[in-house]
Amino acid sequence: MDNPDQLRDQLLAEIGDAADLDALERVRVEALGRSGRITGLMKALGQAAPEERRERGQALNALKDAVAAAIETRKAALEDAALDARLAVESVDVTLPVRPEAEGRIHPISQTIDEMVAIFCEMGFSVAEGPHIETDFNNFTALNIPPEHPARQEHDTFYLPEKEDGSRLVLRTHTSPVQIRTMIDMAPPIRIIVPGRTFRADYDATHSPMFHQIEGLVVDETTHMGHLKGCLIDFCAAFFGVDDLPTRFRPSFFPFTEPSAEMDIGCTREGGGLTIGAGADWLEILGCGMVHPKVLENCGIDPARYQGFAFGLGIERAAMLKYGIPDLRTFYESDLRWLKHYGFVPLDVPTVAGGL
Ligand code: DAH
Repeated sequence: MDNPDQLRDQLLAEIGDAADLDALERVRVEALGRSGRITGLMKALGQAAPEERRERGQALNALKDAVAAAIETRKAALEDAALDARLAVESVDVTLPVRPEAEGRIHPISQTIDEMVAIFCEMGFSVAEGPHIETDFNNFTALNIPPEHPARQEHDTFYLPEKEDGSRLVLRTHTSPVQIRTMIDMAPPIRIIVPGRTFRADYDATHSPMFHQIEGLVVDETTHMGHLKGCLIDFCAAFFGVDDLPTRFRPSFFPFTEPSAEMDIGCTREGGGLTIGAGADWLEILGCGMVHPKVLENCGIDPARYQGFAFGLGIERAAMLKYGIPDLRTFYESDLRWLKHYGFVPLDVPTVAGGL
């Protein structure tokens, strides 16, 4: 029968010699496995004489514990060594670019906002923002849309529950209330654009209950309709990338501008697709006008001294026209295949989408 002391010395030597985790496992099975040598000795204990059994049992238990502990210690040392070896050969170059397939895409709405902001900022505009939940005053009344005005019905407004004083907050139906906030807060000269979310209770292929607009406002002592036209013609030419983009201004009506106009850009639908900048057709692109004197007055600006122009356009519509996106609803479906197709690879420049 094996002598426990000899066996211990032999196993400890084998454990010390085990060069890797596989070799160590082989020693463990040889010693402590089901038909291992220590296991065999323990099984044989039953046949030993009763007076011998106790002493030998203790010796075998001590042997088993010593071998198990040595295996654990060796195992930890081998694992550390394996990790050190891996760390020595493997290194991560954090300066490598991200693999293209793992890179996200800029959503076409964010991209379009960035493009528009870049064009207007170059002209000297700053970006202003306002809350999505607005007062009835900022969204309607101050914009010369008093209660009972028919324009209120056209907006399909989402109202919040009535407050105790009977007033109701609204989800802003356009970005125009930010004109009011800006004119109340700051004195002219004012030159702002306001990209942001807007809300109306409407849903089909060209309407969504949440959509985006960009608003513009310029107020100064000498601002006139020529500035409005020059600014918007230059903007559309830059945005659509067509230098001599045909444009026209049609008389229109908005309660907050006088005179008011809608701007169209030239296009053709020949050949099935839509081509912007050529042909005999027209596409409506935005609403605009000279700020109504009553609106200036509502914000504490003297209309005898100051004049302004304003405009508003739908960002989804502009993106659909520029990038050939057929259905408005797809903007919000979060379909990654769609985003891969219509999205944009991020550029290494500060953008509104990237938080500047
Ligand atoms: N607020 C208008 C709308 O949502 C768009 C608009 C038209 C804004 C003319 C303006 C403007 O600032 O002058 O339909």
